[in-house]
Parts: sequence; structure tokens; C-alpha cells
Amino acid sequence: MLMTTDPGDLVLDITCGSGTTAYVAEQWGRRWITCDTSRVAITLAKQRLMTATFDYYKLAHEEQGVGSGFVYKTVPHITLKSIANNEPPATETLYDQPEVDKSKVRITGPFTVEALPAPVVRALDDVDDADEDMSAKQTDWRDQLRATGIMGRGGVRLEFSRVEPLSGTKYLQAEAETKEDKPRRAVICFAGETKPLDSRMVAMALEEVERLHPTPQLVIFAAFQFDPDAASFIEDAIFPNVTLLKAQMNTDLMTDDLKKKRSSDQSFWLVGQPDVELIRDGRSKKRFKVKVRGYDYYDVKAGKVDSGTTANIAMWMLDTDYDGMCIAPKQVFFPMGGSKDGWNKLAKTLKAEINQELIGQYAGCESLWFQAEPGSKIAVKIIDNRGIESMKVIRLGDE
Ligand SMILES: C[S@@+](CC[C@H](N)C(=O)[O-])C[C@H]1O[C@@H](n2cnc3c(N)ncnc32)[C@H](O)[C@@H]1O
Repeated sequence: MLMTTDPGDLVLDITCGSGTTAYVAEQWGRRWITCDTSRVAITLAKQRLMTATFDYYKLAHEEQGVGSGFVYKTVPHITLKSIANNEPPATETLYDQPEVDKSKVRITGPFTVEALPAPVVRALDDVDDADEDMSAKQTDWRDQLRATGIMGRGGVRLEFSRVEPLSGTKYLQAEAETKEDKPRRAVICFAGETKPLDSRMVAMALEEVERLHPTPQLVIFAAFQFDPDAASFIEDAIFPNVTLLKAQMNTDLMTDDLKKKRSSDQSFWLVGQPDVELIRDGRSKKRFKVKVRGYDYYDVKAGKVDSGTTANIAMWMLDTDYDGMCIAPKQVFFPMGGSKDGWNKLAKTLKAEINQELIGQYAGCESLWFQAEPGSKIAVKIIDNRGIESMKVIRLGDE
């Protein structure tokens, strides 16, 4: 970092891991972009960056910001030539030793987290084969679904005796039969590799479900990425006698050479729905807090949605004024942080500045009180220890 960049430069690390590059860039006043295919890596890096503290280095020109560089320690560089000629020695700047302003401490600057399924780039010659490619992919996904089923809570799988292509529909590409005492008919909507499942796709798929005879008992939306709106759409859709499920597809399915299908693979997971309670202050119509009770999980064995626990929630955040597009968290919680990690790490360094009692509350599953207008929307996003995200949007006044 120090050898190749200057303060204010932009550093890109395309394999984030635990976020060391971003952390070091932040430490040395560089800007950064980092990405990873692993949700676990992104979750770790997020917490690491949000709870880090750094020294404040004196700026060369305060009014110009970090791009002007730091004030560094310098040393005289005495050479034989300078002694022989009786010249004053040259000065060397120690770029790894900026002067620290002990009266200040820094935390990581604001950053955004954006999800993007891997784009597929084709050679021009291959463009015509795109459809063929997609159907090859779907054959692959169907085979995998047939071999591994969908992993539910506590290692229980929803298994299928057959998974076959479905014709005459566009958004439902496969049909299946569950391996149960009383087999159920399922239809599957695969979102595709290059885009998240969005609410338009969900609506189209549900329209197709309505036209199917006989009506399936299960509709499975399988995707690498769920648009938050689509997820809420699926959760809120009321379809008599039909259960709608979300299945997270493992990114390994994008990798051709991992094709060996073993029944022990975890290629599809059931995605839970956050169980969030809105609590209203009895004395004010505009004062609320939320309590996360955990994920609702679809219990494969019992065939019903079960309330999950909060044990595996690595991080959750609350946007108290959700714009329907992206979450701008006003409160962030690390329930699994323990006494050494999460916000406690930050609180320890900033002992005098931080209200220790309040920090304790940011480790739990209940938010702090917040003000919001009735009729506005709030959003709660929960990330579990596998890095799987799910989100709940609540319109105040609707509950
Ligand atoms: C050794 S870690 C990177 C460490 C990090 N660059 C650092 O300096 O601390 C490798 C990371 O690359 C990620 N990775 C592997 N293949 C990737 C890909 N095709 N695109 C992005 N990230 C990938 C893995 O998930 C893993 O988190």
C-alpha cells in the first residue's frame, strides 16, 4: 500500500477475504473498493471495518483534505559527498511514519455495500448460443436439485423424486414431485445467473401458476440473489393452498468444474423470513422500536413455517426511513459479537467518548427507540452467520 499508492488514491482488491486491503487502505487514507464471491467474507469484512479505529495523521494541508498527504517524519540523509563538500545533508521522508495527532481518533468512513450477481461475458461468436447455454444451465440446476434437494432447518432436506422441465411457461421452468409419504407437486422459477430475482419476475411467475392445472402445492423461487422487494412480495403473497418458498442457490453452481453431483452438496438452501415485531411507544404515535425474534424457517418435515431463533444472526440493521430502494442503516447490531468483538471492540478504544451502556444495546436483538412518521416505511435486514440476507419491510400504521 505504501510503496505503490498515495493518500487519497483508490485501491481495488477483487478478492476481499476478511477485508485486510480495505482495512489497510482505510488506515492509510486511501479510498477502496473490494469484492468477494463469498457472503461470509463480505459479512466478516463489514463488521471488521465498521468496528475499527485508526490513528489520526496530521494532514500536509488541512484545507485540501487527505489528498494533500500527511505530515511525515523526516531524517537527515548524510552521505560521504555531503561530508566531503561540507554540504547540509539531504532530507529523507519516512512515508511509513506520519505524525499522529493524539487528540483525535478515526473510524472507517461511510461506505456502501452492493450486491451484483456475476455478469457473464460472451464472445460475439457465442451470442447465438445464449439460449442453448441457458437451457444447459437449467438442466444442470434441475439435476442438482434432484440430487441434493433443498436444505432446510437443522439439516432436514426437502427432497424430490423427480425434477423435470416444464413447457408452455416462461417464468416457471421446471416441475418436480417431492419425496414424501404424500408427494406434492412443485413448480420452480429459476431467476437466472446474471440478475437478481425481482418482483416483476415473481408477479409473472405467479400469473403462470394461476393458469396451471392441476395447481401445484409448492412454488419455489430459486435465485443467487433476491431483490429485497421480490423477497417481500413472495412473503406477502396470499395464494390459497399454495406454499411459496425461497431457495438460495449456492454460487458453486456457477462454476462449471464443480459439477460432480453429490447428495451431500448444499446447493440450495431455504431462505427464512425475518420475524420482526414492531413495538409502539404507548405515549407517542411517532415513537417506535423493533425486536428481531429470528428467522422464520420453513420446516421441511412438518410442512409449515416455524419460528427461528436469534442464535445465528451475525448482523442486523434498521433503516428507520426506508425509501424502497436501498437500506441506509440508522442502527446496526452485531448479536454474535460477544464481549470482545462487535461494537465492544470500538467501545474499548473510545472509552471516554462512548456511552458504554448504549453499546450493550447494540449487541442485542432489540433496537433503540426511534422517531418515524406514521405511513412511512422501515426496513430490517438480517444477515446470518452464513452471510445469507433477508429483509422485512414494515409500513408504520399497517401492522
Ligand atoms: C485469501 S482471500 C483474499 C485475501 C485478501 N485479498 C487480503 O489481502 O487479505 C481469497 C478470497 O477470494 C475470494 N474469491 C475467490 N474467488 C473469487 C472470485 N472469482 N471473485 C471474487 N472473490 C473470489 C474468496 O471467497 C476469498 O474470500
